[in-house]
Amino acid sequence: MNMNFFVNTKVITGADCVKSNAEKLGSYGKKCLIVTGATSAKKCGALGDVASALESQGVQYEIYDKICQNPTVESCFEAGLLANSIGADFIVGIGGGSPLDASKAVAVIAANPGISEEKLYAMQWDNRPLPVVAVGTTAGTGSEVTSVAVITNSKGLKKSFRNDLTYPVLSFGDPKYTMSLSDSFTRSTAVDALAHCVESFFCRSANDISKVLAVAGVKKLLKAFDKIISQGTEALTLDDREQLYNASLLGGYAIAVTGTALPHALGYFLTENYGIAHGTACAVFLNEFIGYNSTVKPELTAEFFDEIRMDKERFKAVVSSVMPEIDVRLTDEYITELSPRWEGNAALKRNWGEIDTAFVNALLRKLF
Ligand SMILES: [Fe+2]
Repeated sequence: MNMNFFVNTKVITGADCVKSNAEKLGSYGKKCLIVTGATSAKKCGALGDVASALESQGVQYEIYDKICQNPTVESCFEAGLLANSIGADFIVGIGGGSPLDASKAVAVIAANPGISEEKLYAMQWDNRPLPVVAVGTTAGTGSEVTSVAVITNSKGLKKSFRNDLTYPVLSFGDPKYTMSLSDSFTRSTAVDALAHCVESFFCRSANDISKVLAVAGVKKLLKAFDKIISQGTEALTLDDREQLYNASLLGGYAIAVTGTALPHALGYFLTENYGIAHGTACAVFLNEFIGYNSTVKPELTAEFFDEIRMDKERFKAVVSSVMPEIDVRLTDEYITELSPRWEGNAALKRNWGEIDTAFVNALLRKLF
């Protein structure tokens, strides 16, 4: 088994890491566009910290704060063209997965202002994307350490690209930014991190390093989940939040090697069509995913539960307890209508065994 590994991002975490590394922000140029959502970056203090750090380095900036959850390609074009028009040298993305993924697309568009949507996703870029600095404010996405951008296209479908040129050059992770997350957001992002770790472990392309990272991430998450189950998310201390954040980075490193698998492949339509938070939409498939792997890869499944030191049934119960509840009912007609999505789906091909449309349809009928 190989140990191939490439993550092209300088990562700095810990209390006040933005403030104490302001000079690094000044090293990418004299103008930048901050890409973020409407409120959370302001509320959690990250936007204020970044603005002060940029000002201390004499970097001029403008703020694009119209990135919504499940960012649209239209908003990325709007921000990318703005970055181009102000002559931005780099992009600072602040937020959870949505602003961070968007900032990667914005960086491509800013450097290639005439690019079409099709060429953006096909990675037919004439010019190198601008550098992206990522400031994480949730503990789930892992986008801080991956090159992946998942952007909703003009047809309303979540579509991604991943390219060695879109790793953030620098990522800051100050766990204090995650202290203000709501209960449901804390849970949905935490189970996103869990899904990244578990899916990565069971990918065909998992290797000796991604598996270690995935297991380390799961163990940290399980510790925090213990507390969430017994005392609720309001009881999480800054130390607990730091563990969740670090686990999300471990999950990010793991999927940077392998990509995601069945739960992420299936989760997207629940977000697109039912507004279910991304992490929850993916993690709702985790227990079935474990069950599937028990059948097609029993030794690997045994290895996983050995490594995380928890038995399968207990693990499934923990996942169910931490996940926000969802209430979705699917008709047979709708499941059939969804079928073309599963043909040739890249994330489905990463799984062991053969996952075909009939398998997916049966799973959707069973769950919803
Ligand atoms: Fe995810």
